[in-house]
Amino acid sequence: MGKYSCEKCAKTFSQKSHYDKHLTRKNPCEIQTYKIKSLIDKAVEEKLIELNKKLISNNTENNITINIIEQMTEQMDISKMSKLELLKKCKELGIAKCSSKNKSQLIQLINGKNKIVEEPSTSNTQIIEVNTTNVMVNTIDIIPIYKLKVLSLFCGCGGLDYGFHQLKEFDVMKSYDSMKHAVETYNLNFTTKAEQFDVKDILTPDFNLGFTPDIIIGGPPCQDFSIAGDKTLGDRANLTETYIDIICKYKPLYFVMENVPTIRTIGKSVYDKIIKKLKDASYGLSINVIYMPDYCIPQERKRLVIIGKLGGVDGIFDTPLIKAKNPIKSIREYIKKTNIDVGLNGKEHIYRHPRNYSRRGIFSIDELYPTVRGCLRKMPPSYEFHEGDTAKNRDSVISPDWNIVARIQTFPQSFKFANKNNAIIIGNAVPPKFSEVLANVIITHHTTS
Ligand SMILES: C[S@@+](CC[C@H](N)C(=O)[O-])C[C@H]1O[C@@H](n2cnc3c(N)ncnc32)[C@H](O)[C@@H]1O
Repeated sequence: MGKYSCEKCAKTFSQKSHYDKHLTRKNPCEIQTYKIKSLIDKAVEEKLIELNKKLISNNTENNITINIIEQMTEQMDISKMSKLELLKKCKELGIAKCSSKNKSQLIQLINGKNKIVEEPSTSNTQIIEVNTTNVMVNTIDIIPIYKLKVLSLFCGCGGLDYGFHQLKEFDVMKSYDSMKHAVETYNLNFTTKAEQFDVKDILTPDFNLGFTPDIIIGGPPCQDFSIAGDKTLGDRANLTETYIDIICKYKPLYFVMENVPTIRTIGKSVYDKIIKKLKDASYGLSINVIYMPDYCIPQERKRLVIIGKLGGVDGIFDTPLIKAKNPIKSIREYIKKTNIDVGLNGKEHIYRHPRNYSRRGIFSIDELYPTVRGCLRKMPPSYEFHEGDTAKNRDSVISPDWNIVARIQTFPQSFKFANKNNAIIIGNAVPPKFSEVLANVIITHHTTS
């Protein structure tokens, strides 16, 4: 066995000089781990299809699902438990003196105990030989098929997470945001609970996430890169780099980063740095400026979306994103196409407070709404009509409340808000309808490539 091992291709070398030579090859080696994983997945899937066919022909109703020992459901579930639930579990397992332990220590104790007490029973299981590994197939228990584990950072109220919660192929394991009210709203809507947490702490040495993410999603704060900001790159700009450092720490198979397109100009120094870090970490990048009305979202919002795939080629998601388009040209067209009541009470003109009075504030439903912002101001009595305004009569204009902008952002009617800072968290969000597109594009690629 060689002493030196290449992190990318797992080749080993007994001599350091050979190892160093390997690392500085002209054509760098490829990352193999994800290829091995997909080979295993494919082989297991084929074997399961074969077995299912056999069972169906034997007229049995047993569902076959896989239980890869390293991914016992038990382990997946405990990472989502609260401290109280973990303490209860410890008690059940007879683990003593645990009340002073933190969450990750409790998880470790339970995992250690499970390995000893939960020997897989052989009575209902078969070991099936597949090309690359032995896999337990349990014909009695129904165990969920492998889901991509999602880590969501800067989750806000969950606009970007929404689509990943909708698809059974994803398991949103943890979501973090530092804003209390955003987390409160998030937790009214999704079964996996978000935590109020400073994402920077993930990079501290004693942080334990409790699982290995297959995909990290997030929209780090973009105010420092925005035209509307004061254009100085401060702490918030640093959080974009922090986000990329976290991706490089866990090296998930996929990641998604959402930001403003002007990160490439106003934030050029940060942008160049993060792209270099991602390329050095072997990510293939699909970088697209998304015009939201192309995806049936009735506002002129543009966002930069980077989708990364470890060991992938650049641009693999560009065509799928183009194919997923479903464009609209106005709010009226949106209402007609989706049959969604935006809540305008019959009004055909909407007010958005202009940043300065050289710009107009009134927009017709025969055009798109401008980008939804976190500040909602009613039309002031002193408002002087602008020549570009689509109406010059106050009575035909509605000043939208957060409910209306939530609909324009495509939050479904059923989405609940905690009623605190709603306008801010709605303005910050990725339109949920676009997050559905993202989740679909990624899972389609994952299951067909
Ligand atoms: C652009 S918003 C993200 C919106 C979210 N992607 C969505 O679709 O709803 C950025 C978020 O980062 C959060 N944030 C800012 N600094 C943070 C930090 N240090 N740790 C965690 N979250 C932070 C803010 O509270 C805000 O919700």
